[in-house]
Amino acid sequence: MEIKKIGILGAGAMGGGIAHVAAQAGYDVILSDVDLAYVDRAVARMDSFLAKNVQKGKMSPEEKDAFLGRITRTTGVDAFADADFVVEAIIENLDMKKDAFARLDAVCKPQARLVTNTSSMSITQIAAATKRPAQVAGMHFFNPPPLMRLVEVIRGYYTSDETVRVVSETAVKMGKTPVEVKKDSPGFIVNRILMAQFIEAIRLLEEGVASIEDIDAAVKLGLNYPMGPFELQDYAGVDIGYHVANYFCEEFQDMRWNPPLALKALIRAGRLGKKTGAGWYDHSK
Ligand code: 3HC
Repeated sequence: MEIKKIGILGAGAMGGGIAHVAAQAGYDVILSDVDLAYVDRAVARMDSFLAKNVQKGKMSPEEKDAFLGRITRTTGVDAFADADFVVEAIIENLDMKKDAFARLDAVCKPQARLVTNTSSMSITQIAAATKRPAQVAGMHFFNPPPLMRLVEVIRGYYTSDETVRVVSETAVKMGKTPVEVKKDSPGFIVNRILMAQFIEAIRLLEEGVASIEDIDAAVKLGLNYPMGPFELQDYAGVDIGYHVANYFCEEFQDMRWNPPLALKALIRAGRLGKKTGAGWYDHSK
């Protein structure tokens, strides 16, 4: 079955970014969230990036209109009935994801593939909420989706080879490089490595070895990373890293993933990163 129409559930930074990538690749896109205001905000973000492209002569106004015209805005899941492929990008809560997949399974056509953009959770558990676990996989994009080149394609226990092939091909059509994660292991590849770096950076800070600014500078200049670990946590959301650390702690039953005290303090203070105006850094100015 050729994938023509892609549904995206969740219009936050990830869902909105994935919708951008899908519309850019020429897919018809249905973008949904609990409140139409979130969807409108995501489309407005795309509009402003596209307007810059028009200004710079990278895109014609007609191409911009055609791009945005491929996106249908909605709430709930009913509009996904004729989607060939659905990407779930709601918040990182297993029960909410299972509930979303049960609802998607009930409305989507039988041959549709359902994928989750979870950053760490079990694909097998999420797929178990459906009657089509062979057609469910992980499709993990990175923030910001329009600029990041990687997509992790994750197999759940029952994911078929055909589903892995379809998801990988869809990622390629979106201009991304897919890598296959052969086992449903918490955090897959990148977040397993990233979390270890985040936690170690926070421990260095707690031990007084170096300041936030110097740890970020060291990683940027010494490893040639575009952002240091604190800068990246603020960019991606401090709360996301915190949830992933707790999830790893529980899943691996290993205290080395236990969120450091300084991270807990930040969460309790509501300093969740750039989106709240403050995280490890103050972003209010
Ligand atoms: N959508 C569309 N276009 C965008 C965009 C977006 N969200 N953000 C930027 N752009 C455009 C800009 O308008 C600009 O266009 P131009 O070239 O025509 O002017 C172009 O893209 C480049 O933008 P920037 O100058 O802002 O880009 P930078 O070169 O500064 O790079 C960055 C920004 C890609 C964010 C870079 O700093 C980076 O790679 N940081 C690290 C990001 C990272 O590690 N992400 C992974 C996080 S972990 C994760 O996602 C996993 C999850 O599970 C938590």
